[in-house]
Amino acid sequence: QFDIQTGQTLFPIRPTMYGIFFEDINFGADGGLYAELVKNRSFEFQEPLMGWIPFGTVQILEKDPCFERNPHYVRLSYNQEITQTGLENEGFKGMGIKGGESYFLSAYARTQSAAPIRLRIELISEDNEIFETKEMTISGKDWKKYTVTLTPEDTEKRAHLRLTLKDAGTIDMDHISLFPENTYKKRANGLRADLVEALKELHPGIFRFPGGCIVEGTTRETRYQWKNTIGPVENRPTNINRWFYTFSYRKFPDYYQSLGLGFYEYFLLSEDIGAEPLPVLNCGLSCQYENDDMDEHAPLNELQPYIQDALDLIEFANGPATSKWGKIRAKMGHPESFNLKYIAIGNEQWGSIYVERLKPFVEAIRAKYPDIKIVGGAGPQASGEEFDYLWPEMKKLKVDLVDEHYYRQPEWFLSNAKRYDSYDRNAPKVFAGEYACHTDTQANSFLAALCEAAFMTGLERNADVVHLCTYAPLFAHVDAWQWRPDLIWFDNLSVFRTPNYYVQQMYSQNKGTDVVKLTRNNQPVAGENDLYATAAIDKQTNELIIKVVNSGLYKRRITWNLEGFADGKRTAKVQTLQSLDLSDTQLTPVESSIELEVPKAKLTIQPCSFTVYRIQL
Ligand code: AHR
Repeated sequence: QFDIQTGQTLFPIRPTMYGIFFEDINFGADGGLYAELVKNRSFEFQEPLMGWIPFGTVQILEKDPCFERNPHYVRLSYNQEITQTGLENEGFKGMGIKGGESYFLSAYARTQSAAPIRLRIELISEDNEIFETKEMTISGKDWKKYTVTLTPEDTEKRAHLRLTLKDAGTIDMDHISLFPENTYKKRANGLRADLVEALKELHPGIFRFPGGCIVEGTTRETRYQWKNTIGPVENRPTNINRWFYTFSYRKFPDYYQSLGLGFYEYFLLSEDIGAEPLPVLNCGLSCQYENDDMDEHAPLNELQPYIQDALDLIEFANGPATSKWGKIRAKMGHPESFNLKYIAIGNEQWGSIYVERLKPFVEAIRAKYPDIKIVGGAGPQASGEEFDYLWPEMKKLKVDLVDEHYYRQPEWFLSNAKRYDSYDRNAPKVFAGEYACHTDTQANSFLAALCEAAFMTGLERNADVVHLCTYAPLFAHVDAWQWRPDLIWFDNLSVFRTPNYYVQQMYSQNKGTDVVKLTRNNQPVAGENDLYATAAIDKQTNELIIKVVNSGLYKRRITWNLEGFADGKRTAKVQTLQSLDLSDTQLTPVESSIELEVPKAKLTIQPCSFTVYRIQL
């Protein structure tokens, strides 16, 4: 029997409780959420023609550039003696093109010739068929922006873009870009609408960005610097992505960040999906997995610019449109404040080198912005020496939340459903900032999702301690991933939601407003007989919400003792994720309803299931 004290709320569940964590890993930004179809549009990768297939006479130059911070550009020369001159872009494992939709090609160009020069623009299918052709004419010696609209009839998952000179002469080109018209809200420099919709459907309360390890960078030089990610996209300096290789077994030398999806776009996306923004900033340490070498860490006496970045970011997000950084936000199109409430400093850092750097950040942010909640970190492990060292340090620093990460096996997730029952109620709160159940196959299997669902009963049951939680990583391109499992997979045309996605969605859609007591023999239901459970009420809809996981292979017959319910019958709305095939990667939830006798409701919990029940109070 589960005793459920519906009449007595224990503590609130914050609207921010279930969120998302975005990192540009697995081609999640360039090649993913960011709708740009051209790879290396600014010719700034280490090999400036990476992503491009040149033909004829093609040079890379940087003298007298169009964009100071992205100085390389391409020079194309053609005379009748050679067959053809031009460039073909391979996109991100090809370009996803939808027939019947419009695509905007833009480029900056100038000629070195007296007469105007025509350029043929073609979309090429995977079978090397031309399926759309347009023309652009370049004239004049000064850099100018040119645009042309492509309206292909065919749909192609792995198209290429080809540019060919039609007339003899020489032109220079830079920032060659191709965007679908149908970005989310049809915004210029926009995001892939289907991927944004997948995020919205998660109803996230918090949105952490931009990483992950990319915040740290492989080196100090290549750390994520938000100030490089705002203003005109053409002049945001391209940066190598920390995930150009993954622990040396998968290499992606062509993985860079165009930064076209930058901090302004992240704040805008937070608004679009209705989540509180939670930016993470570098704390003066590059990725410690890569560098134990102190040279790659900012000495304490050189930390000020990093701290200033944090203060300036708060002004960029919240400051009046007349302030230095608020003015830039306003100029980019958002005079209103983004109402930033959280900031995280450092990702997965460890040791005293982290603590001594975090300290001056906390002091400076508290002094200038006392209302901003500061998130510190407990290192990359969910337990162990470093973890035990960092937590007391975070308490001393009085950060508001501590970011804990766990990528662990199924058994860990099941046994850690009780993890927060014994946490200090007077310490900083927990942000479970990166977690995912990793099985031997590393697949997004139902087994992994079920174990996460079981574990999450413990997060919700302890919502007085756990204020935020986000699964990680969020996105992965099916043809270009570095890490798995991931919440949402996509190819150039489609999006695939995983069982783990549905677990997150079932929690966020049914979080309720307040936890109520659910016990069996006065103990939390957290693993005995393979059952895990949590209960909440939603004060807005006046419903009781009960979530139950059965991780075992036997069905369980249980009784709910629903305190406060008068004798009678009630209908419960039910959502279930259930399968005996734990390797299933495509399972989706099923909705139904059941009749219950109350207050003592008897019901059967199916084996290998996660079920959410909603009952009108
Ligand atoms: O989510 C993938 C990586 O895991 C993150 O970048 C990092 O924070 C963690 O190690």
